[in-house]
Parts: sequence; C-alpha cells; structure tokens
Amino acid sequence: MNDSSDRAGAGVAIFGGAVFDRKYQARARLVPGTSNPVDSSSSHGGVARNIAENLVRLGVPTAFHSIVGADAAGEALVERLRGLGADVGGVVRSSERPTAEYVAVLETDHELALGIADMAIFDLYSEAHLDAVWPRVAQANWILADCNLQTGVLQALARRCEGAGARFAVNTVSGPKAVRLNGLGSAVGLLFTNRDEANTLIGRDIAADPRSAAEALRDCGFAAAVVTDGGNGYAILENGAVSWHQAVEASPVDITGAGDAFVAGTLSRLFAGDGLALAARSGALLAARTTETLESVLPDLSPGFFAGGGRAMPGPAS
Ligand SMILES: Nc1ncnc2c1ncn2[C@@H]1O[C@H](COP(=O)(O)OP(=O)(O)OP(=O)(O)O)[C@@H](O)[C@H]1O
Ligand SMILES: [Mg+2]
Repeated sequence: MNDSSDRAGAGVAIFGGAVFDRKYQARARLVPGTSNPVDSSSSHGGVARNIAENLVRLGVPTAFHSIVGADAAGEALVERLRGLGADVGGVVRSSERPTAEYVAVLETDHELALGIADMAIFDLYSEAHLDAVWPRVAQANWILADCNLQTGVLQALARRCEGAGARFAVNTVSGPKAVRLNGLGSAVGLLFTNRDEANTLIGRDIAADPRSAAEALRDCGFAAAVVTDGGNGYAILENGAVSWHQAVEASPVDITGAGDAFVAGTLSRLFAGDGLALAARSGALLAARTTETLESVLPDLSPGFFAGGGRAMPGPAS
C-alpha cells in the first residue's frame, strides 16, 4: 500500500537534533594544559538531522524540525538540508544558546582523548514550537522524533500523532536520553533503538540479548520496535512476536551514522508501502554501505539506491 497521496502534506516529518561536529586530530601526543597543534575538520551531525539528510537524498518528501542558534553553524546546518530539498521551515532559530556542538579531540592513534558536547539548546524546543508547525505536520504519513527532545515535547508529539492518526516513530539517541520515553510505550508506533539504549530504557543490564530486550519493550507497551546490535544484526518486534535478522555484510571503515541510516532506509521503504521486516532489510543495507565510508551519510546516496541492484532482498529470519 502506498498511501503517500492520501494526505496534503504527505511525507515524513522529522523532529530532533541538528549538531555541528568538529574533529581535532592531534599532530603530536597531546599535552594537557597547553596549546596542541591539530588538524581540524567539521561535519554535520545529530540523529534527526542525519535521518533527514538520508531521507531527502532518497527522494522522500522530508520536513525537518529542530532548533539552532543564530550563528554560522546553525545557518550552515539549515542551508545544507534546504539545498538538498528538505522543507526546513520548521527549524527554530534561538539567540539564547549557540547551535548544538560536538567536539572530538583525537590522540595521534585516533582514539578519542576528549569529547565535548553542548546540546543545551535542545531544551529550548518547546510545545509552543510544536503548536506553530502542527497544522502542516499533522498531514505527514510518518512523524519521527529523536530523544534529543525533552520528555514533555515527546509526550505532546505522541498525543498529537494519536489524535491525527499519524504514525509516530522514535529513535532513542543514547541511553540517558532513552529514559525520556518511560511510560510512553503504547503511544510510540515504532521504536528504533540499539541494544544498550533498549536495555537502559527497560532498566536492565546493558549486556542483555537484543531479542530479550525487544520482548521487554513489548511488555512496556511498545507495539513495534527494531533493536539493532551493530554488525551482528537486529531484532524486530512486530505483532507481539520477536524475530532476529543478520546484518548485511560490510567492510566498515567508520560506523558513525549507521544507526541513523538504518532508520532512514527503513522509513523510506515504510513510506513506499513495504512491511516492517522488508523495510528494515533496506535499512540494514543502507546502514552497511554507510559503515564503508568516513562520512555519516552516504555521499552518493540518491533516490535510485534501492532500485535494481541496490534494493535489499529479504534476509534470513528466525
Ligand atoms: N559492522 C557492521 N557491519 C554491517 N552492518 C552494520 C555494522 N555496524 C552496524 N551495522 C548496521 O547498522 C545497524 C545499526 O547499527 P548499531 O546497532 O551500531 O546502531 P547505533 O548504535 O544506533 O549506531 P549509531 O552510532 O550510528 O547511532 C545495524 O543493525 C546493522 O544493520
Ligand atoms: Mg543510534
């Protein structure tokens, strides 16, 4: 079933984080308390932003909603998505806080020496901002939020989706942010989470099996969920049952963005009418290819990715 023409503003509406990432690679062993020579680079990140970029590159009508500072980083984040064809009319600009930033300082052996995150601006995205965009957002086929949003905003989005009959998906982002979904299980139509985040959300040891984590999510009220486990694969909870699926084979060089690509690939095929298990196979394919590049979004991703040879075939399930 492709119901993308049923709604006037048909497409996918994404809510959540846009982050300006900076990387500082040490040229010599780092010495604390003094100036260190580095090679610097920057890129665009944030779970919701990465998902939006993947979707728009795949040709899915995508509206992006976030909050950035009134600064050059925020401008660059918004303009890049606009240039790719996303609707960025729902991005709020705040003069109270700078654009969210993640800084990684890497040792000469490329290991993370220090990570710095300023995500405080996300706390300024409020229910009032939702009010302003809701009439148009309510027309979307799918609405996806990441847990960079505050609990109250996630709850409000869930309520609104229920009222509008829109399908609501959520990505947990991280363990500490996953707990923002406590008590919201039955209001989330589809949860995307990794094994550790799922176990944090359900209050278990993070080593627990993704399949049993998916079962525990069912007991928390989630109707459908995908619990990913890196190169091992992913568990799908659907119609009360949990199935296990192998990852698509890859030769990874940098796994950054794999989870976000998985979500976007899956959503794009759900939008096209595939069922969850088949759609997730496409998500796994896009995720696998994304691990094979240094970028967090596949640079040559285009609407033809899943067509012909690129299109994922159903994989083994058990
Ligand atoms: N080494 C790998 N080989 C093949 N596929 C992989 C590999 N790592 C990740 N993937 C694919 O990406 C999906 C998501 O990976 P993972 O469970 O690491 O998500 P994540 O922790 O959310 O990642 P991210 O750091 O991007 O947020 C996996 O289910 C798998 O399909
Ligand atoms: Mg993730």
